[in-house]
Amino acid sequence: MKYDILVIGSGIAGMMAAIEAKELGSNVAIVMKKSPMANNSFMAKGGINAALNNMGDGDSIEHHIQDTLKAGMGLAEEEAVRIFCEQAPQIVRELHRKFKVPFTTLPDGRLAQRPFGGTKFKRTVFAADATGPAIMKALNKALNDLNIDTIKNHFALNLLINDGKIAGATFVDEKGELKVIQAKAVIVATGGFAGLYRGHTTNITDATGDGIAMGLRAGLEAMDMEFVQFHPTGLEGTNYLISEAARGEGGKLINSDGKEFVDELNTRDFVTRAIVKQLQKGKKVYLDLTDIPEEIINTKLINLKKRVKSLKGIDISKEPIPITPLAHYTMGGIKTDTYCFTDIEGLFYAGEAGNNGVNGANRLGGNSLSEGAVFGRIAGYQAVKYSHRQQTQIEPKKEDIQKDKELIETLKNTKIDAKKIKDEIGEILFNKLGILRNGYAIKKALDKFEDIKREMSQNHENDSSLNEKIECLNALDIAKVLAKSALYREESRGAHFRMDYPESDHAFLHHTLEKLD
Ligand code: FUM
Repeated sequence: MKYDILVIGSGIAGMMAAIEAKELGSNVAIVMKKSPMANNSFMAKGGINAALNNMGDGDSIEHHIQDTLKAGMGLAEEEAVRIFCEQAPQIVRELHRKFKVPFTTLPDGRLAQRPFGGTKFKRTVFAADATGPAIMKALNKALNDLNIDTIKNHFALNLLINDGKIAGATFVDEKGELKVIQAKAVIVATGGFAGLYRGHTTNITDATGDGIAMGLRAGLEAMDMEFVQFHPTGLEGTNYLISEAARGEGGKLINSDGKEFVDELNTRDFVTRAIVKQLQKGKKVYLDLTDIPEEIINTKLINLKKRVKSLKGIDISKEPIPITPLAHYTMGGIKTDTYCFTDIEGLFYAGEAGNNGVNGANRLGGNSLSEGAVFGRIAGYQAVKYSHRQQTQIEPKKEDIQKDKELIETLKNTKIDAKKIKDEIGEILFNKLGILRNGYAIKKALDKFEDIKREMSQNHENDSSLNEKIECLNALDIAKVLAKSALYREESRGAHFRMDYPESDHAFLHHTLEKLD
C-alpha cells in the first residue's frame, strides 16, 4: 500500500491532519488502532478553548496566550502558544460552520462559552457536556464525505526510515500479520500515555502512547515526559471523568467536614495537590453540585447526571459526588518544532503524541481539543508541502521489515500475561510517578521496570493477545523515559511535584530531552 500521506491515529489531531491533506489534493490514508470513535478526543467532555469573547467579558487572544503561558510555568514555548491561540477562534468557528459540530449556542446564534480553570474568562466552547463526541462524529462524517482511506484495527508497530527520511510504517493487522504501508510523509497523532496509569486514569485503555514508543525506537527524543496531568475530579472508584465544566457551572469542592478548601477553578496541578492534601489528612473529597439550578444540570450537565446516577446511584442535584484525581493527559511527547516537524525528514507528530512546547509543564483545561485541531491541521499542511517536494517514494529497508516479522513471531511464541504486566506498570506509575514524587521512589520504579522487562522474556502461565504484548513493550519504553526525566528534574514545576525538591528552581527552567538508552 502506498500513499502520499499516512496519518496514524484517529483523534482530533489525526482527523484534522487527514482532512487537511485530502482537501489539498493528496492521496491520504488514516490508520486507527481500533475505530474512529475509540480515542480520548471522543472521551473529552467539557469543551474546547478559543478566545471568541462571545460572553462579553473582555477575553482576547492575548489573554488566552498569557493564561496558557502562565499555566505552562515557564516551559510553554511562546511561538507555539501564539500560533495556537491565534488560530483557535478560526478553527472552532469552522468546526461549527463547516463541519456542523452542534455546539451549544446563545439566543443570538453565537457560540456559548463557559468558564474553565486557569482563567477568569469564559472561553470554553461546548456541546452540553459531550463536546468530544459532537466534534468527533462531525469530523468522521467529513472523513467519509472526502473518501479518505480509513484503515481500522491496525496496530502501529514501527516507523520505517531510510537514509534519514521517512518511508512509511509497519502495522499489525486484525489477523495478527505484519502490514507495511509506505508513504512520502507520515503524521503520528496517536495520543498520549495517561492510559498506562491503569486503574487510576480517565483515559481509554488504548491510550498507551504507542506512537511515542515508536518515535523513541526510531531514535527520536521525547520532551518533558515527566509532566503528567492529573484531572482533579474523577468519580471515586471508577475511571469516569467529571468534567471541569461542572466546576465551571458552579460546582464546589468540599471535604468530609463540608468545608471548601481550594479555589476549584485554579489550574489542575494546584487543585489536584490540594485534594491530595485532604486525602492524606484522612478526609474524603466531594464535588458539590447541589446549588446548581436543576435547569442548568438538565441542559448543560445532563450526561454527567445520568452517568453518576448509573455508576453510583447518586442524584447530583441532591448529594455531593465523591471524587479522586485521575491521570488524564500527558504534556510530554516526541519533540517537534512549532510546525510539527521531527528530526526525521517527512515525519510529523501532532496532538498529545508530539510536543512542540505548547503546554509546557501544565496544560489548561479545554486547550487540548483546540490544540489538537490547530496543530493537526498544521501537520497535514506541512506534510503535503513536504510530499510535493518528494518525486518518488522512499523504499523501506528490507531488514527493518524482516526484524518486525521476527518480533511478531517471537511475541506469538512467548506466553506473556500482558494484562498482569500492564496492571503492575499502572500501579508503579501511580504510586511512584503519580501526583507526589520523590527521587527514592522514582529509582525504585526504574528498577521495577527493568525487572518486568526481564520477566517478559520468560514464558508466563497465562497468555494475551499480540497487540497487548506490544503495548507492554511500548509501556516499558515510555515508563523508563518518563522515570528518567522525572528523576532528572530535581525541582517542582507544574504537574511534576517532587516532595524532596518542593520548590521551583531556575536552574531547571529548561525542557528535558530523553532518548531510549
Ligand atoms: O474536564 C474536562 O472536561 C476536560 C477537559 C480537558 O481536559 O481539556
